[in-house]
Parts: sequence; C-alpha cells; structure tokens
Amino acid sequence: MFEQVIKGIYMEDILNKAREYEKENESKMEGLRPSFHLTPRVGWMNDPNGFCYYKGQYHMFYQYHPYDNHWGPMHWGHAVSSDLLHWEYLPVVLAPDMEYDKRGCFSGSAIELSDGRHLIMYTGVSETVDENGNKTECQTQCVAVGDGVNYVKYENNPVLTSDDVPEGGSHIDFRDPRLFEGKDGLIYCLVGNRSSDTSGQMLLYKSMDGFKWEFVRIIAQNRNSFGKMWECPDFFLQDGKWVLLTSPQDMEAIPGRYNSGNGTLCLIGNWDGEDSDFEVENNQCIDNGIDYYAPQTITLADGRRIMIGWMQNWDTCNNYTPSDLWCGQMSIPREVTVRDGRLYQVPAKEIESLRGDLISVLNMKLNGEYSAEILNGRKLDLTVKIRPSEGKVYDNFEVRFFQKDNNYAFVKYNTHESMVTLSREFAGVRRAIVNKTSCSVDNKGGEIELRIILDKYSAEVFINGGKYAMTIDVYNDQSFDGISFVSDGEALIDIEKFSLEK
Ligand code: FRU
Repeated sequence: MFEQVIKGIYMEDILNKAREYEKENESKMEGLRPSFHLTPRVGWMNDPNGFCYYKGQYHMFYQYHPYDNHWGPMHWGHAVSSDLLHWEYLPVVLAPDMEYDKRGCFSGSAIELSDGRHLIMYTGVSETVDENGNKTECQTQCVAVGDGVNYVKYENNPVLTSDDVPEGGSHIDFRDPRLFEGKDGLIYCLVGNRSSDTSGQMLLYKSMDGFKWEFVRIIAQNRNSFGKMWECPDFFLQDGKWVLLTSPQDMEAIPGRYNSGNGTLCLIGNWDGEDSDFEVENNQCIDNGIDYYAPQTITLADGRRIMIGWMQNWDTCNNYTPSDLWCGQMSIPREVTVRDGRLYQVPAKEIESLRGDLISVLNMKLNGEYSAEILNGRKLDLTVKIRPSEGKVYDNFEVRFFQKDNNYAFVKYNTHESMVTLSREFAGVRRAIVNKTSCSVDNKGGEIELRIILDKYSAEVFINGGKYAMTIDVYNDQSFDGISFVSDGEALIDIEKFSLEK
C-alpha cells in the first residue's frame, strides 16, 4: 500500500512537470510550425500513437520528448481535431513515471471500452539488473484508462510481460501494441517482437476487457525477408483484404522497391481469425520517399480509412529543423484503399478545404524549362499530368520546388528506367545523409500523374492516383518558393495548382 502511494506521488510529479513545461514554452513555437502538418507542442515528436475517434473528436497521441529537439525519455503528447488538419493541443497524457516504464512510454494504440472509457495500451520500457550488475532493457505492455484528457495507469500493470512471449521471442524487442476489435466482441492486440532468427514477428493476444490478456498465436513471421525487427504494426480489413502495416528496422534495399535502413512495409493477404495465420499475397513499401515511418490508421464514420505517419526517419534525424525548439512532423491524413493487391493512398479530401483558387496551364508543349510567378509557393496542392507529344516519348521530366536559382528539391520521372526520383540534395541541405530515393513505377509510355502536397518544410508526392507515394522533409530557407518544370525532350503537360492556407 505504502509503495503504491509513493509511486502515485512520483507519477504526478513527472507528468505535471511536463504539463507545466509545454504550457510555458509553446508560445515560443509561434510562426515556426508548418501550416497544416501536426508538430509536437514543443520539443521532439516521433510515431503517431493511439490515433482514434473518441467522444466526437479525432485524437492523435504521439511519442514525445518535450524538453529537447532530440529523442529522450518518451512521454505521450496529445492533440485533437475535428478535420484532421486543424489540431488543438491537449496536455501530455503519459510520462515515464513508474518502475515498469521509467525508461519510456513507447508506442501504442487506443480503443473505446464498452462502458465508454478510453483505453490506451503502450509499451513500458524498464530495466532488469542481473547478478553481475549488468543492466538489460525490458519491454512490457501496459494500459491506462481515461476520458480523452486525463489517463490513469492501471494498478496491475504491466498486463503483458516476457512470460507472455512465446519461446524464442525476445524480451527486449517486444513493443508497439496495436489494439483492434474482433467480430466476436473480444479485443485483440498485435505486438511486434523479434524471434530467435533475429528478425521480426507479430504476436496476437486477446482479451475480454482490455486488462486481462491471453496469448493467441504468432500470426506473421518476417524470416529475415524484410529487414530485422518489425516495429509499429497496424492490422485491418480493407476492401476484402487483410492488411498488415509495419516499419522494419535494418532493411536492405531492393532498387526501386525498398530503401535501406528504417523502412515501411505493407503486406496484403487473407486472415481467417485467431485460429489462423495471416497468409500474405503481396508486399510493397508504403512510402518510397525518405521521411515516412510508423503509420497508424482509423476508419471514419463515412467508411474511409485514413492513415497518418511520422514524417521523418530514424536514419535522417540529424536533418534538423531550422529551429532547435522542435523536431518531427506527422504526414497529412491519407485515404487508403486496396485495389488489385496494392495499397493506394491519396490526400484525404479534407485537404481540399484548404484550397484557394485554381490556377491551371493545360495542354502545354514543353521542351526545356518553364516557370511562372503565379505557380510559385511553399504551401501547395499541385498536380502535373505529363504525356508524350506527337507520339515521341521524352527522356526525363522534372518538377523543381522550394527553389531559388540553383537550389531546389525535385521529383523526376525517367521514362527509360520508369523510375521516379525524389531529391533534396541540391536544396541547401547541409548534412550528408540520405537525400534522394527512387521508386520504380508502371511504365505507361511516358504518361504519368504527379500530385505534390507542399507545406513549408515537406513534400508528399502521390504518383498515378496514389499507386505510389514518396515523402521528403526539406528544411531550407522559406524564401525559396520557386516552382519550375523541366522536360528533356518534348512533352505535353497539364498543371493544376491550388495554394493551401489554413
Ligand atoms: C518506432 C519506435 C517504436 C518505439 C518508439 C520509441 O519509431 O522505435 O518501436 O515504440 O519508436 O520512441
């Protein structure tokens, strides 16, 4: 009992300190944020957590270290929205203040209980010390219950420990619980784990009430096919197929299909419920750009499934923002569908509410460079459709953005290799990190559609109606707002541009 009281006081202190800190410091962020992408209230943000609709609002929690623009002891930050674009900050909800999570409250998810309370499940990171004094990290799953603003950690945490990991599974890499409702009224949970072959696997658990959990089975195994450890699962039924999203560490590149390092993976297939394994039919990278990781999805009341990811990557974390007050952004909400064994993603239609007037240039023949003042900007929804002119296929087509003279980021389509490249290497980036990636696309004889969403520091590119997506952060000077189009060989193009303003 005494132990409980002591822990109770301890908990209040760390959480309240963070709540005070963010309240006192958020005004310093004024004018520094992108326009419609969610950033941390102050400090550092990584993965989206507990993305959900609860009590009439969308809730986004996130991995959060308020005191610094670097990763540190993880808290859960919190924001709410009614349209997924205008976010209002609420106080931080979780702090690393218990013995079982004192090294951090890592990623997790949320679900509404049948009595209306909100349950969040997260990974508590602690340490164990062996007889020689060697410390080892230990990851367990913990829950907290709340009303959408304040959450109380369950007194019998952790609810899943190394005792619940099947034989051979790692006790150190056991994280990122993803809750979902079963048809049978049960709550299911998928947790990322590392198996004895050193690569990832997904463990399924079930519960009647969200507090008492039981191991069901391993439903998917990496077997060293896609990177090593699988982080941050999401698992859902979409358009008749089951979809497993995960973010693998230590990927090896497959040219045009997967990038090396921390990547994203979408597995599409069939699943017959808890007595069966997930049978994978297709795989793809979720986003072939540089800065996209750990996405979570929700279904809206109108049936659309919306995905938001952390718009950054662990491998490029030293690509700092111009301010040392914050680091990390969330992507725009993207509507996802499954068609012909592939995940498609397009900007959620809510984005259209930010549009200004349409400016279009249609059926223009281009061989060389074209730019026009009226097309410039750093907050844009820009669609370019390119096709061969008079039956002759051009070689390359490039859209340059965030440009001033010879400094620019670009997206370039090479018709011979059927490859789209996204690059910030000439955009004034000062770090020798990964600055360019490529994505192999269907060759339609030089016909391609590029939709580019720009917001001050980022570009999200959707290719051929969302069949491929590529995302990049570009923290160059805000006065670099030029847009230009460069065709190597004659092409016919349509340009449609909307400014985006919140
Ligand atoms: C993924 C991740 C998660 C973990 C969290 C820690 O980006 O490594 O696996 O829960 O970040 O902040």
